[in-house]
Amino acid sequence: MVRKSLDIKVVMMGLGYIGLPTAALMASKGIHVHGVDINQKTVDTINRGQIHIVEPDLDGLVRHVVSEGYLKADTSPCNADVFLIAVPTPFREGFEPDLSYVESAVKGILPFIKEGNLVILESTSPVGTTEYIEQIINKERPEIVGQYFLAYCPERVLPGRVIYELENNDRSIGGINKDSTDKAISFYRNFVKGDLISTNSKTAEMCKLVENSSRDVNIAFANELSMICDEAGVDIHELISLANKHPRVNILSPGPGVGGHCIPVDPWFLVSSFPGTTKMIRSAREVNNYKTEWVIEKIKNHALQFELEHGRKPIIACLGLTYKADIDDIRESPALHIVKTLIKDGLEVMAVDPHVESVKQISLVNLQEAVLNCDFAVKLVDHKYFKELTNKEFNSIIEF
Ligand SMILES: NC(=O)c1ccc[n+]([C@@H]2O[C@H](COP(=O)([O-])OP(=O)(O)OC[C@H]3O[C@@H](n4cnc5c(N)ncnc54)[C@H](O)[C@@H]3O)[C@@H](O)[C@H]2O)c1
Repeated sequence: MVRKSLDIKVVMMGLGYIGLPTAALMASKGIHVHGVDINQKTVDTINRGQIHIVEPDLDGLVRHVVSEGYLKADTSPCNADVFLIAVPTPFREGFEPDLSYVESAVKGILPFIKEGNLVILESTSPVGTTEYIEQIINKERPEIVGQYFLAYCPERVLPGRVIYELENNDRSIGGINKDSTDKAISFYRNFVKGDLISTNSKTAEMCKLVENSSRDVNIAFANELSMICDEAGVDIHELISLANKHPRVNILSPGPGVGGHCIPVDPWFLVSSFPGTTKMIRSAREVNNYKTEWVIEKIKNHALQFELEHGRKPIIACLGLTYKADIDDIRESPALHIVKTLIKDGLEVMAVDPHVESVKQISLVNLQEAVLNCDFAVKLVDHKYFKELTNKEFNSIIEF
């Protein structure tokens, strides 16, 4: 049931993994949402009450708020009280942030911003982007300078739990001035139960980048340790479990690299803005990228050894394709990159992933088939589904 209608109209720019759930949640609280996306197919899908992304509980919510008339999608914006921006912020070649989607979303809403309106950037962005948006608005709309509110509020949801986390996570909210921060906080209070913590726009922008850089640095430490252990002939898992007995040590588990669309991207926004002082953040990125190439070399060497011993190339079972355990997302997945590289380099690979239906040019088989046909296995993703596997099923399982 949509809560009773609120007298607030929101334009939501971008209806992807963040924008659509946010639009649907706001609409379910009685906010009138005009969702905007440049993709006509996305707009048509949403207006039919359907969704174009995979996210639990989102389909029912969208169907409901569209049928009740609280959410409408369109390819262009309109007048509103609040303008929210959740468009992509990838990086270009050389790891430079690409702000062209944000710029174009701002251009789209420019003619509609009126005195008293609130503009909020949610896209993960380099430090100073909100102030840059202020400059664009002030230059193009000098008659409203000082009469609108502008804030940054980053998103920290976990795919698979987005609806719950949108409503319940704490949020840092930073305006370009105190009035903007206060205005944004009272807006989010309409649909967020978590704490809304006030700061300034630059701190809020940096906070998001630092959260993911912190994860990246910690993972890089575990990945570097795993390569040291390989050289030293020490079992990395035993080592970490022993070290973590120290009451103030908590080393993460290593893996074949870092994937997804946040952790491998966001640290570069800090490196690009502060090149001279981000030595550790840059190194962590490099270590995590290098770990993937190191894993490829390890598998190739193992295959070569097998060929020398058996006079034929091995069939390799690659266990897992997604970018992390127990999800179906293969975007920027190191496991997928490893499998594709092995195939491109002429190795015979059977991939197993219970969460993935098909991937172009990759032979996906079930576990049984892999056990029967493969000479050795490499575990690339720590899905619960693979937990019970032992070297008895395969001749050997290599983990990284
Ligand atoms: N997906 C996540 O888990 C997550 C988590 C935290 C932060 N973020 C950040 O949120 C932002 C959005 O990410 P996402 O995952 O939702 O991206 P997405 O690619 O799923 O969705 C973005 C949508 O914006 C649309 N779009 C592009 N330019 C537009 C424009 N000018 N006007 C209107 N629509 C436009 C695209 O067609 C697309 O549908 C990014 O900055 C991302 O880094 C994402």
